[in-house]
Amino acid sequence: AEKLRIALAGLGTVGAGVIRLLAENGELISRRAGREISITAVSARDRGKDRGVDLSGYAWEDDMTLLAARDDVDVVVELVGGSDGPAVALARTALAGGKNLVTANKAMVAHHGLELAGLAEANGVSLRYEAAVAGGIPAIKGLGEGAAANRIERIYGILNGTCNYILSEMEATGRDFGDVLSEAQSLGYAEADPTFDIEGIDAAHKLAILAALAFGTKLDFAAVDVSGISRIRAADIGQARALGYVIRLIGLADCAADNGDRHLFQRVAPYLVPLRHPLAGVSGPTNAVVAEGNFSGRLLFEGAGAGDGPTASAVVADIIDIARGNVLPPFSLPVDTLQDSAPADPGNR
Ligand code: NAP
Ligand code: HSE
Repeated sequence: AEKLRIALAGLGTVGAGVIRLLAENGELISRRAGREISITAVSARDRGKDRGVDLSGYAWEDDMTLLAARDDVDVVVELVGGSDGPAVALARTALAGGKNLVTANKAMVAHHGLELAGLAEANGVSLRYEAAVAGGIPAIKGLGEGAAANRIERIYGILNGTCNYILSEMEATGRDFGDVLSEAQSLGYAEADPTFDIEGIDAAHKLAILAALAFGTKLDFAAVDVSGISRIRAADIGQARALGYVIRLIGLADCAADNGDRHLFQRVAPYLVPLRHPLAGVSGPTNAVVAEGNFSGRLLFEGAGAGDGPTASAVVADIIDIARGNVLPPFSLPVDTLQDSAPADPGNR
């Protein structure tokens, strides 16, 4: 089979991780994919930056839109970030030009997922975003394939590695919030603007994506009720502990039927989690996604939610899927059909 040619946009934590992963596991990946996977061209902001990876074999494009339009590219991998700007222009150009798109950008999918899914459908290509939700955990594949026979009744979990790292470090060591946040940034867990992490917005992006997939409802990020952890103090953590709880930032969605109408409830907030609950033991930059299927019962997916290696693993899994010819993702975002879901009555929240 012909080799699959990749363009890589964004060479930061995740982009460099993808290069390292393809270099280290290249032979195994090509064998499993059934064809060679090779990077043709790359792009980022600063061409001169040392990224700790060898870029000498790849063409460099200053302009990301030109990167997405290259003739020698089959899959565009977007690892830039942001719900506006170059990432979105690149994604539109790639899909409209008949190229598959793999992205880790939950902000973009949460804001423009329906439009991008429509573009992919219209052009017969694939839009994949496994890495956008819960880092290295194959949550989307797990739900879309392993749990495909179920009606999902509720989905919830720990969806932000930075917040979980902060909360569990503060709990275990008594360290200061700002100090642990700085460390999470230097470890590559946090968003370029960490406000997205600590104010719950990043978790809300992921929750909106999961809810749309799990319930077959239109992606509705604006309807997520969001509060973050920036006001949590060491004293809150200590008091929770004294009462038999830990504090975790949880994203929760359910879709209740009421006289034939479906009401989608989506909330991200710090919750008190009883010490005996499996989510209480989830520490560090780990994520956990719990899905309740009507036949499977409770499924728990747990693993690293942030960081270069785990996120690269999810990105490359999507590339392998495309190399195998699986153009349709395990789940697709409802584009033009399906139930609109009114947000839950705020009075009931
Ligand atoms: P990052 O380290 O900040 O890297 C971003 C890359 O994009 C950099 O190479 C940067 O170029 C480039 N870039 C940013 N703005 C640009 C612009 N205006 N024009 C051209 N290039 C630009 O970010 P990251 O942590 O790798 O995250 C990338 C994406 O993956 C984001 O959508 C993020 O939400 C998502 N994600 C991250 C993680 C994680 O653990 N880090 C996990 C899951 C998903 P320079 O290097 O030249 O500045
Ligand atoms: N900033 C995100 C987090 C990266 O901490 O979970 C993974 O999506």
